[in-house]
Amino acid sequence: RKSEPDFYVRDLSLAELGRKEIEVAEHEMPGLMAIRAKYGPRKPLQGVRISGSLHMTVETAVLIETLVELGATVRWASCNIFSTQDHAAAAIARAGISVFAYKGETLEDYWEFTLRALTHPDMKGPQLVVDDGGDATLLLHRGYEMEQGDDWVHQPAESKEEQVIKNLLKRCAKERPGWFTEVVKEWKGVSEETTTGVHRLYQMLQQGRLLVPAINVNDSVTKSKFDNLYGCRESLADGLKRALGVMIAGKTAVVCGYGDVGKGSAQSLRGFGARVIVTEIDPINALQAAMEGYQVTTVEETLGIADIYVTATGNCDVITLEHMLQMKDQAIVCNIGHFDNEIQVDRLNALPGVRKVNIKPQVDRYDLPNGRSIYILAEGRLVNLGCAEGHPSFVMSNSFTNQCLAQMDLWENRDTYKVGVYRLPKKLDEEVARLHLDRLGVKLTRLTPKQAAYIGVPIDGPYKPEHYRY
Ligand code: NAI
Repeated sequence: RKSEPDFYVRDLSLAELGRKEIEVAEHEMPGLMAIRAKYGPRKPLQGVRISGSLHMTVETAVLIETLVELGATVRWASCNIFSTQDHAAAAIARAGISVFAYKGETLEDYWEFTLRALTHPDMKGPQLVVDDGGDATLLLHRGYEMEQGDDWVHQPAESKEEQVIKNLLKRCAKERPGWFTEVVKEWKGVSEETTTGVHRLYQMLQQGRLLVPAINVNDSVTKSKFDNLYGCRESLADGLKRALGVMIAGKTAVVCGYGDVGKGSAQSLRGFGARVIVTEIDPINALQAAMEGYQVTTVEETLGIADIYVTATGNCDVITLEHMLQMKDQAIVCNIGHFDNEIQVDRLNALPGVRKVNIKPQVDRYDLPNGRSIYILAEGRLVNLGCAEGHPSFVMSNSFTNQCLAQMDLWENRDTYKVGVYRLPKKLDEEVARLHLDRLGVKLTRLTPKQAAYIGVPIDGPYKPEHYRY
């Protein structure tokens, strides 16, 4: 309806607080500010319709306003029902940008908001998508496939969330027939933020379903080796502390998965004095954990011993109902991976005789039929964004500078890019890092011409071969 504002936030009066925090964050996001200074005057994204599905936090607000400064018309939704910071969303809405997000969304609202973020004025779709976890990309693909005759929407749903998506698409088929097909014609690409979303992109590419070029932002070194690692090193503890204020020192904590997120999480818990146990399926990561001095064993071996469980695998069913039933009384269970299926919360909720006591938003105690209780944080969704405010601004500046470079690259080269999943060139990766050195007072050593020739690299980089792992 015309009279409805083109945004949906919890409380617009939080905009002033949001604006103040955005201003604080800007000083900690030198990469994004440098992008504004360098490209702002040229407006490389002039008039480009961008839709974003990414945690609506203060840091994301700085990203959104950077894209606007580059000339884009932006619409936004969060990529998790619990991750929105309502004051950040309010500030963005007050700035006249269409944002659809509040903390604690229903699944119905979540998917409706994703669709609204994708629906630009005059029923146009996005020309570019910024995605985190791949939900916006999934909706566009499933909608397109439905219109091409695929019957996925009519098959029985495997989860409540899948049913919500199917209902939404069935409604789209009635209300906007053929819309996805038209949208895909003008859709030039997506840049994906996280490991799980990138995984989905490669799967779609292999299945021959991917419709547009995609840039894997996650695997820029300045993203996954910083955000996933150092970001989680700070925000995991923040989530645990704000949720329960529990003393970590002396406790036994289990980190499932020792990838970048697991490494940061394990270090975080150890930093507070926990005894950390790691679980892994990959011998290389398991060996890494062992050589860092962590005990590496299976979840089963830790039951009855451990006080805190953190899943960081990007995989499903890592903590099962059977595990939870054997845990120590008062154990805390949470997930820092992208989706909530790492912990079998659905099965726990459905268990006869279980009593769920809400302590405060995003903190629940489950009184189990065996007389013990466990805590589940953020209903098994990512704890650092559900129970705290996600990563600090500085590390997000690295991630989001990559996002901006990816968006500009997808647009500038829209006529030559083929469907596929790409990474940004190493030179740009190094540039992102370079933009963050001054703020930390870092002084780089400069190669002499003789040294550069000796190790075979240009004086101004790139300094490492593609196979280098950092
Ligand atoms: P990764 O692929 O580097 O690490 C995951 C690790 O889990 C791998 O080493 C894998 O071998 C292991 N694993 C898989 N199945 C397992 C199982 N059943 N038991 C034990 N280990 C298992 O991925 P990364 O970058 O560490 O990301 C992990 C998850 O965190 C992803 O879903 C990602 O999207 C998400 N993420 C969350 C962030 C946050 O702020 N909460 C930030 C960045 C990523």
